[in-house]
Amino acid sequence: MPLHIYLPHISPQGLEKVEIALAWDEGVKLNPRLKAARRALEIEGESSFLVLGNAKMLETQGRRIIHLEIGEPDFTTPANIREAAIRALKEGETHYTPTPGMLELRRAIAEKTAQDFGVEVCFENVSVTLGSKEAIFAALASIVEEGDEVIYPNPGYQAYASGVMFFGGKPVPVRLREEDEFRMTPDEVNRLVSDRTKAIIINSPQNPTGAVLSRDDVKGIVEIAKDAGAYVISDEIYRYIIYDGLKHYSPLQFDENLENTIVVDGFSKYYAMTGWRLGYVITPEHLTAPLQLVLNLVTACPSSFIQIGGLEALRNGSNAVREMVEQYAIRRGVVIEEVSKMSGVHMVRPRGAFYGFLNVKEIIGRAGINSLKLASILLEKYGVAVLHGSAMGSFGEGYVRISYANSVENIRNGLRIMSKAFNEIAGF
Ligand SMILES: Cc1ncc(COP(=O)(O)O)c(C=O)c1O
Repeated sequence: MPLHIYLPHISPQGLEKVEIALAWDEGVKLNPRLKAARRALEIEGESSFLVLGNAKMLETQGRRIIHLEIGEPDFTTPANIREAAIRALKEGETHYTPTPGMLELRRAIAEKTAQDFGVEVCFENVSVTLGSKEAIFAALASIVEEGDEVIYPNPGYQAYASGVMFFGGKPVPVRLREEDEFRMTPDEVNRLVSDRTKAIIINSPQNPTGAVLSRDDVKGIVEIAKDAGAYVISDEIYRYIIYDGLKHYSPLQFDENLENTIVVDGFSKYYAMTGWRLGYVITPEHLTAPLQLVLNLVTACPSSFIQIGGLEALRNGSNAVREMVEQYAIRRGVVIEEVSKMSGVHMVRPRGAFYGFLNVKEIIGRAGINSLKLASILLEKYGVAVLHGSAMGSFGEGYVRISYANSVENIRNGLRIMSKAFNEIAGF
C-alpha cells in the first residue's frame, strides 16, 4: 500500500484536504520498511504557498488573479544590495564561509542590534541562517526535548507549532483576542506556564494580525520566562515595519545577562530580500555552540555572496527601509478605509507588518461555511487570493488574512471585489 499524506488545498469544491500519494504508482510493491518518517508526514506546510500555487494554476488557465495571499514585499531588493552581491560574485566570492557566517556580517548584525536596543551583543553569539525560518528551526532544534511545552501565539506563524512538534515537543497556543488588539499579553501567557514550559515564542509586529507588543508586554513575558526557567524566542522579522509612532521592543532589553532570550530576525521583509534566504539568530552564550552544530549539520554555512548583500543592507539600507515602510503605511490606510466600508466585516487596526486580519464571522455564519471555503470562493469565483484564517492556527478560524505588500491599485480593487463578494455570499 502506498503511503498518503494530506495537504490543505483549495479546490473548486472547496475541499479542505487532498490526498497526495507518496508512492508514485498504486501498483508499485514497496518493501514495507520503505516509508517516510512520521515526523515528516506530520509537518503542516505553509498554507500561503499552497494558496499561491492554486492561484498560479488559475492564472495559467487565463484567469486574472489579484494576489493578497502571500506575505512578501512587492518591491525588488534595493539596487545597492543587489549590486554588492553581484560584485562579490564577480570578485570570486564563491566559497564556503564559517558555519555561523562571515565575521564582518556577524559584527555588523551585533553592532546594529546594540545600536537599536542599547544592549551589548557579542558577535560570537550571532549566527547567520538561511532565512529566519532556518533560525526558528535551529533554535527549536537546540532546545526542545520530547514532551517539552512551547507557548506560542495563535493565530500565528505556522512554523512555530509545526517546528515544536517536529522535535517531539507540545505546542501550547495562546489565544490572541481582538479585545487585546491581538497582543499576546503576559496575563494570558502566565495562565499557560507549567513546569514543562521550555520556551515562549513571541512575534512582534505580528503575522497575521499586525499586533505590536507594548514595552510592558515584552518585559512581563521576559519576567515570566525567567521565573519559569524558560527561553523567550522572539521573532522580530517585521521590527522596522511599524506604524502610529509605536516602538518595537525586544526581550534583549529586559534580559539583563542575556540568558533567556533567543532573537530570530532576517532580511526578507524590511529589506525586501525574501528570495535571498538570509536571516540570523542571536543566542545566549550557553546555546551558541549547540545551535551552530545544528546549522553545521543542516547547511554548513549560508551562501557567501548573499551574505555580502546582507552586509550592504545593514550598512546602507536604512533609507530604502524607511521609503518602503512609508509605502506600506499608505497602503495600510487604504486597507483601513476599504474594510471600514464593508458590511459584516471588521478589522483590528494593524499596528505593524503588512497584513490585515479581517473578521468575517458574520459572512461565514450567514453562509454556513468556514474561512477556508470563503477563501476558496473568493479565489475561484472572484479572482482574489487571500489566506483563510485557520491556516494560521485554530483560533484564526473566522478570519481571512490579506497582505498589503501590493500596489494601492491592486489592494483597492481586491478589497472592493471582496466587499461585493461578501454581500453576495452573505445575502445582504
Ligand atoms: C513571522 C514570520 N517569521 C518568519 C518568517 C520566515 O521568513 P524568512 O524565512 O523569509 O526570513 C515569516 C515569513 O512569512 C514570518 O511571517
